[in-house]
Amino acid sequence: MSPTSNVPTKAPAVVMPNPPIHRVLSGQKALVTGANSGIGRSVALALGKAGADVVVNYVAGDEAAEAVVSEIRSGGAKAYAHKADVSNESQVVAMFQKMIAEFGTIDILVNNAGLQRDAPIEQMTLDQWNTVIGINLTGQFLCAREAVREFKRRGVVEAVSCAAGKIICMSSVHEIIPWAGHVNYAASKGGIMMMMKSIAQEVARFRIRVNSIDPGAIRTPINTKVWSSPEAYEKLMTLVPYNRIGEPEDIGRAAVWLASDAADYVTGTSLVIDGGMTLYPGFATGG
Ligand code: BGC
Repeated sequence: MSPTSNVPTKAPAVVMPNPPIHRVLSGQKALVTGANSGIGRSVALALGKAGADVVVNYVAGDEAAEAVVSEIRSGGAKAYAHKADVSNESQVVAMFQKMIAEFGTIDILVNNAGLQRDAPIEQMTLDQWNTVIGINLTGQFLCAREAVREFKRRGVVEAVSCAAGKIICMSSVHEIIPWAGHVNYAASKGGIMMMMKSIAQEVARFRIRVNSIDPGAIRTPINTKVWSSPEAYEKLMTLVPYNRIGEPEDIGRAAVWLASDAADYVTGTSLVIDGGMTLYPGFATGG
């Protein structure tokens, strides 16, 4: 008998808890890219609940962006929507200029905008490759560069935060797990990891913290086909030891913590939030 034969192979299905978010980011100014849906939306709402004023960046979907803005304002924080393509240098520069004019500065950048353009390698077009690298990786570089410029100009304001600024890069478990049929996406996320760590190393002495979040399967529009039917969900769960899909709020809460002074000694780190997807689930009963 194997030593693990009396252990259930899966966690019981669980319902996500939703503890309250405390106002640990009062007085801080945040920019969240791709904030009108999915993970970005949830992060923007969570930062707003934590007391930050938020710029809701988006590229398409005015109504959804305005809905996020209204929800943040209803909790008492300031917010506005800003349409800009993060892969376009002049649009990014203009977005930061406007934010500094409106809010005075930036304390928190959440580099979230991202997409997938999936295809087998032999069919992947250069356009599919360039679109994904342009938005997922170059877009994060352009926004990080503008944020660092402002963080260094302003320095630490102790009444606001003990850091001069915080950047959170939305990466993925696919900075670790290779992904057949998604080489552009996995390459962009692997690139984010080394970009994040290199920027973190470069700017730590200015008290600027740079980290990533690596979500696993989260219930958002990007991956509807893996959770919208019971068969697909069951198949997905073979990859998730914790036996539930992630909810966008799982990521929102983590972003609040990473941006707050409670995480002041955390820099250059990838925080994996994946219900165990990166734990080689096949080895729970094999190997
Ligand atoms: C992808 C999702 C996928 C998840 C786990 C994410 O980065 O965007 O489509 O479900 O990784 O594989």
